[in-house]
Amino acid sequence: MSVEVKIATRTEVPEIGRFLRSIGKNGMSSEYLWDFDVWLTVRDMGGALIGCDALERRSKLLHGHSLAVRKDHRKQGIARAIIEHGFIHYMDSGDTRVVFTHFYNKKMYERMGFTMADKAHYAHLDDIGARELHRSTMVLIRIKE
Ligand SMILES: CC(C)(COP(=O)(O)OP(=O)(O)OC[C@H]1O[C@@H](n2cnc3c(N)ncnc32)[C@H](O)[C@@H]1OP(=O)(O)O)[C@@H](O)C(=O)NCCC(=O)NCCS
Repeated sequence: MSVEVKIATRTEVPEIGRFLRSIGKNGMSSEYLWDFDVWLTVRDMGGALIGCDALERRSKLLHGHSLAVRKDHRKQGIARAIIEHGFIHYMDSGDTRVVFTHFYNKKMYERMGFTMADKAHYAHLDDIGARELHRSTMVLIRIKE
């Protein structure tokens, strides 16, 4: 299945917030949604939002946040397409993509080339929605070859 990943405009941000709440990602205050550098989105044929991810650039680090895919579209490679889009378009060789996530997502990120890293080393990135969400998370990283 080919997945078209797009960059959201500012006007789409409230819709992204509703989307995240609709799939149970309720933790982030709505004002934080505006703080990210880029929101990546995937829509179905009818234009409904089915996937998203927020990116935040910090020098050689790209912090990913709120990767989410609608329940009825999971296991079709949408999250992978979003992650790979981020690698191709927002990272240079040697850059590191960082995600703070809960243990149950470890396997998924490992399938996509991420490995566990020392959280203390990346704690300074934990400053957008992460302030509220990431107290009990782990850190995984993937370096762009
Ligand atoms: C986690 C989530 C984003 C995955 O989206 P998805 O579109 O179903 O993922 P993909 O189909 O692109 O899968 C990517 C890879 O991860 C694997 N994977 C996906 N979900 C997995 C799971 N729950 N457990 C283990 N592996 C998983 C897939 O098998 C695939 O690997 P493969 O291609 O080698 O088989 C989706 O389940 C979701 O939105 N969950 C709720 C929000 C969430 O937990 N987000 C996590 C980041 S904060």
